[in-house]
Amino acid sequence: MDWGMRNRLARMFRPPSGNSVMLAVDHGYFMGPTRRLEDVGATIRPLLPHADALALTRGVLRSSVPPEATTPIVLRVSGGATVLQEDLSNEAITTAIADASRLNVSAIALSVFVGAPHEHQSLVNLAKLVDDGESSGIPVLAITAVGKELEKRDARYLALACRVSAEIGAHVVKTYYCDDFARVVEGCPVPLVVAGGPKLDSERAALELAHGAIAEGARGIDMGRNIWQSERPVAMLKALRAIVHEKATVREAVTVLEEEGADARGPAHAASAA
Ligand code: 5RP
Repeated sequence: MDWGMRNRLARMFRPPSGNSVMLAVDHGYFMGPTRRLEDVGATIRPLLPHADALALTRGVLRSSVPPEATTPIVLRVSGGATVLQEDLSNEAITTAIADASRLNVSAIALSVFVGAPHEHQSLVNLAKLVDDGESSGIPVLAITAVGKELEKRDARYLALACRVSAEIGAHVVKTYYCDDFARVVEGCPVPLVVAGGPKLDSERAALELAHGAIAEGARGIDMGRNIWQSERPVAMLKALRAIVHEKATVREAVTVLEEEGADARGPAHAASAA
């Protein structure tokens, strides 16, 4: 692996653990203005100092992130379907590698839809993106999307999707936590990070998810809704950091969450928090 590629990965996978806490705010690319991401800039402002990387699209990067920001960017470069369609797998690469380079990103990300109608297309998209990423020294993060079929989140399916993504050349794979997650890790030769999925019933449940994933071999999280749809997103992010970087137990992470106290959600969010 060339120095540029290694350097970009090292920006995202940070000491003291070598793991990564990625903050995902790319949901609008197919869901529109998701609750609490209506004003992405306002949502991420207090969170940015606590994230090892920020995952989003070029439109939101250019419009809502100050260029002075030092947080590494994971740029989503796939899209082309919205929640109005039954089949979400009909995606193409929507951002040229030249634009990703211009934006000085640390990684490029796309969804792969194993087992979906456009499986072939999404895997060929991944192969093309890996070729582009290798030419430019930009790592590729493959997202094993499950679309609307959340029941696909089991070890047999995810192990297949992750392994196929790694075989095609993804440098990092994002997937979901599941029972027997160690089996998914074991079959994937590149680092895995886990998404949170839809908001869980409690913050503790999200902390348990992250703790289970790290304990079973994930190298980080790439989480969205369970952070910024929380009533105390900064405290939640700090609690997750304790798990990912400091091997905190769930109990210790809950203590971090409580000690951080009432979160200063800005006035921009007063209406949606009410
Ligand atoms: C959207 C994504 C999200 O980045 C990913 O699902 C992580 O966010 P969340 O924790 O809210 O699921 O890939 O397509």
